[in-house]
Amino acid sequence: MDKFIIEGGVVLKGKVKISGSKNAALPIIAATLLTGKECLLKNIPQLNDTKVMNKLIVSLGGKVAFEAGVVRAENRNISNFKAPYDLVKTMRASVYVMGALLGRYHKAEVAMPGGCIIGERPINLHLSGFEKLGAKITVEHGYIKAVAKKLKGADIYLDTVSVGATANLLMASVLAEGKTLLRNAAQEPHILDLCSFLNTLGAKITGAGTNTISIQGVSSLKGGTYEVISDYIEAETFMVAAAITNGKITLENAPAENLQAVKEKLLETGAEIKKNGINIEVRGIKTPKPSNIDTAPYPGFPTDMQAQWMSLMAVSSGASILNETIWEKRFMHVPELNRMGANITTKGNTAIVTGVRELSGAPVMVSDLRAGASLVLAGLRAKGTTEISRVYHLDRGYESIEKKLEALGARIKRVK
Ligand code: EPZ
Repeated sequence: MDKFIIEGGVVLKGKVKISGSKNAALPIIAATLLTGKECLLKNIPQLNDTKVMNKLIVSLGGKVAFEAGVVRAENRNISNFKAPYDLVKTMRASVYVMGALLGRYHKAEVAMPGGCIIGERPINLHLSGFEKLGAKITVEHGYIKAVAKKLKGADIYLDTVSVGATANLLMASVLAEGKTLLRNAAQEPHILDLCSFLNTLGAKITGAGTNTISIQGVSSLKGGTYEVISDYIEAETFMVAAAITNGKITLENAPAENLQAVKEKLLETGAEIKKNGINIEVRGIKTPKPSNIDTAPYPGFPTDMQAQWMSLMAVSSGASILNETIWEKRFMHVPELNRMGANITTKGNTAIVTGVRELSGAPVMVSDLRAGASLVLAGLRAKGTTEISRVYHLDRGYESIEKKLEALGARIKRVK
């Protein structure tokens, strides 16, 4: 398993190009199952997760090629309707093929995804939504089976805002008969992107980006070319990298309109953020001011930035309170940051972070993708050497992170 070795204390400077969004690419690749015509997807990040999604589609009988950020998918001859446990257990987003297969073929079988390190991660809302559209759901031998004679549009209220359920129900309903309403739908930029892609293929979706999405079923979808949005979580991670190293980083290809929540908080810490043409420039200060956060569905402060924010607050000039409201166990990075000299205590879903003057490099272990990003950020700031193990979690969601950081001056290397 690869490790990162970071010599901390370098002020990061320069430009970084933000990659395509992982959490948009995954449902969009899955959605190519809804048509037998060719789809060309651009700006797809080279990540383990996007590779796993491609592999899953191929295992169902689809044809997928992935080169230089472009996925070419042609899913004319789908012959298998079962997503196997060995793929689903490595990537929970595999569950997206369920909505797409059900939508086009009225049948799908997916291994029941288990809980994961950040929480239980139920999929009850996906399944009850499929039932409202007319599917019959059974669970046997660890697999969820959905079958329907036909799917019919329905009025569906999601009692928790869920990105996954919104995406899966969108895919299941685009080819259903009549109109579907998704109420209390997720408003994340990746949901909007999925809707734009589906509309490119001929779907009739309105209201994407609001909490009520309306889908007028169509009889079939065509092929098309689509460019996936860039990754706002990656962009925000680099913004925090500038802030935590007292550096100055220019983000290229960043989705400026999606960065608001983290931008406002960074301004509170004293960082400076400027638009420079289409680029965004972030300049840190030596000791950031403390700033509290409550994670929330978009447009709130993203749970996928909570861990990185904690690293920044760990070197702030005071105490801050971080409330994690989405995932019940998303504090696995706390003991690791404390090993680096941070002063963080947790109670339930609240972390109290008291800033310390400096962090000190230490051997630490990554538990999940964003926890990994927080440890990299802490390592960049810390005095001395930080050795980060289990970086495969980072490879799931950050494209060439060490190369991008190296280009900004970081002393980071990957060792086998
Ligand atoms: C997506 O996960 C993201 N993953 C996660 O990013 C992200 O943390 C999360 O949305 C929240 O923004 C992808 O997009 C691939 P949810 P998802 O369904 O869809 C509850 C990362 O680091 N819930 O929006 O699985 C659930 O327990 C990853 O990139 C139900 O109760 O999340 C949670 O509290 C980690 N029943 C809340 O909703 C359900 O059926 C939000 O979950 C579904 C969800």
